[in-house]
Amino acid sequence: MGKKIFSGVQPTGNLHLGNYLGAIKNFVKLNNDNTNDCIFCVVDLHAITVKQDPKELKKNINETVATFIASGIDPKKSIIFNQSGVAAHSEGAWILSCVARMGWLNRMTQFKEKAGKDKEKASVGLYSYPILMAADILLYDASHVPVGDDQKQHLELCRDIAQKFNNDFGIDDFLKVPEPLIQKEFSRIMSLKDGSKKMSKSDLSDLSRINLSDNKDQIINKIKKAKTDLLPMPNDIKELEGRPETQNLLRIYSNLSNSTLDNSLKKFAAKNFSEFKKALSELLVDKIIPISDEIKKLLNEQSYLDSVLLDGVEKAEEIASKKVKNIKEIVGF
Ligand code: AMP
Ligand code: TRP
Repeated sequence: MGKKIFSGVQPTGNLHLGNYLGAIKNFVKLNNDNTNDCIFCVVDLHAITVKQDPKELKKNINETVATFIASGIDPKKSIIFNQSGVAAHSEGAWILSCVARMGWLNRMTQFKEKAGKDKEKASVGLYSYPILMAADILLYDASHVPVGDDQKQHLELCRDIAQKFNNDFGIDDFLKVPEPLIQKEFSRIMSLKDGSKKMSKSDLSDLSRINLSDNKDQIINKIKKAKTDLLPMPNDIKELEGRPETQNLLRIYSNLSNSTLDNSLKKFAAKNFSEFKKALSELLVDKIIPISDEIKKLLNEQSYLDSVLLDGVEKAEEIASKKVKNIKEIVGF
């Protein structure tokens, strides 16, 4: 039987290689398997948990939709929609927030990271963010949720919420407990400037990431400037130990060339670093530039992008409104 897939990406600008390799590339694979039902959501309600400029937000929603399509998600096969277009997400999130426990949320490491030192000043939304994420998933009875490794904890919370709801109201399997789909080897792409930090939209240095909108020269320059160590190229996995930047670059190479880390190690063993970087740049240009060109083209087709979202919202609404209606009945409304 096919899978019911749900995943989301925040429209907060600068979609990058980490988003692509950690999430979107996998979305495309799932989309291409005709036995799956896929829903990909631009999670604009999640975006406003930190301050957004309204004009920028609108632009970023468009860009995220364009990136989905440019990467290979076919809106005729998969539902692409924006979260704020379907009221059931907010409604469901409220009810589930009365099921989730404070103690569960207090453990979420993303909140701690994002709120930083001054937790008192973080929005309440940033704190309850994972409950909205749970509503996203549970409203569609998703069986599998493809995400990067950083979202694993949120998915466990979603599973806990589903189980508690089912227990509290004595209805087995009403909310479907979803499975995470996390790619083992490539679940976390690191910054090009610091191998201990994940590649992120919010890193102040643009040199830390390859954006999906970068041009050829930018890509070549960023790889040239990417941090490495002074040692020669490693011969095997053992020699990669304690060399996070080199490991990250080799992993990126392996993923983009659909090869294993072992094979990439063999290919570049004893070669010059500059030779490896040249090959990596060429591969990145080869894979990313067609996407980046397509994004630019799609951004000039506003009425098409609008029609994709309109159609997606309509289809998502049909599924989610029924589920939330059932949830309300179960709760006693
Ligand atoms: P976000 O941009 O935070 O909404 O993330 C969208 C998707 O990209 C999620 O599934 C994340 O887990 C994934 N993701 C974000 N950054 C990275 C990264 N550096 N490496 C791997 N996956 C990532
Ligand atoms: N929290 C996810 C992230 O930052 C985005 C997200 C929101 C999501 N709702 C979701 C991912 C539902 C998967 C399923 O990446």
